[in-house]
Amino acid sequence: MTAHPDYWNAFYDDEARPGWDMARPTPVLAEALACAAAAGLAPGASVVVPGCGYGHDAAGLEAEGFAVTGLDFAPLALQGARARYGDRITWSSADWFSPALGPWDAIFDHTCFVAMDPERRRDYVEACARHLRPGGLWIAVVFDDVQGRPGPPHAIPLETCRELALPRFEILHLARASASHPRRAGRELLMVARRRQD
Ligand SMILES: C[S@@+](CC[C@H](N)C(=O)[O-])C[C@H]1O[C@@H](n2cnc3c(N)ncnc32)[C@H](O)[C@@H]1O
Repeated sequence: MTAHPDYWNAFYDDEARPGWDMARPTPVLAEALACAAAAGLAPGASVVVPGCGYGHDAAGLEAEGFAVTGLDFAPLALQGARARYGDRITWSSADWFSPALGPWDAIFDHTCFVAMDPERRRDYVEACARHLRPGGLWIAVVFDDVQGRPGPPHAIPLETCRELALPRFEILHLARASASHPRRAGRELLMVARRRQD
């Protein structure tokens, strides 16, 4: 069911914001960009935000000088993103599991990987590798604790995250995020990983 855009679109079909929406970029963005800069990512690079929702992280990246694509398969998410941030960001209506998208220099993944049903995770990682240039970066913010609630989101423990990424990525950084939103403090991991050459 979560593999279908209708499931997600229904959350946006409301006056109220969806529960996950923070109305601003994640506070983890600054730390993520510092790690990515150490790995060579510089303003001007192309970055895609899969499952961008209302586009706050995409807007945060655009403000830092990146060429940003906000991608989502829920039409109302993109409608809301465009209404909030206009057309200085490229908004792409697509399924992340599509065979050919991009390629981009980097992925900024916040609450998309954890939104996947666990049995789709390996295919999700393959899609991340496929949509990046060789050597491109997958920057992911994931929950490793969902406080016992049924998903989505689904917790991804650190070792599971490592095992999932390793076949296609070299892990440059994987540790607890230091500056989470207060509601998420101590429950988020930040990973920066480089796509291996084929
Ligand atoms: C939990 S929401 C997070 C939205 C946004 N990242 C945020 O933090 O506000 C997950 C988003 O991923 C999108 N999504 C889920 N599966 C997708 C897929 N296969 N392709 C594209 N978007 C997808 C949903 O439509 C939804 O907007």
